[in-house]
Amino acid sequence: MTDETLSIRFFRGKSEIGKSIIIENLTILDLAEDAGVEIPRNCTSGTCGTCIVKLISGTVPIPDQIPPGLDEYLMNEGGILSCCLYPTTSCEIDITPPI
Ligand code: FES
Repeated sequence: MTDETLSIRFFRGKSEIGKSIIIENLTILDLAEDAGVEIPRNCTSGTCGTCIVKLISGTVPIPDQIPPGLDEYLMNEGGILSCCLYPTTSCEIDITPPI
């Protein structure tokens, strides 16, 4: 067991625009708000795909039941839905949509 603090860093392209400490049960969207980073959103329930961002590094598990706002193609491009997914390691996120 480790007490290492996990952090999430947000980028727009190559520019870092914010950083936050990962808190259990907070979505990437919540953590972005903590960092003062604005990510567009609509449904906030995994359906519309508006909140898609790109995972640069780290682990964000995707449920077996893939949310409707995501598909295999987007996932292969690094796409994750910020409104309903949770990081489990420190990670870096590009808020620019993957496609
Ligand atoms: S806001 Fe609709 S899928 Fe995230």
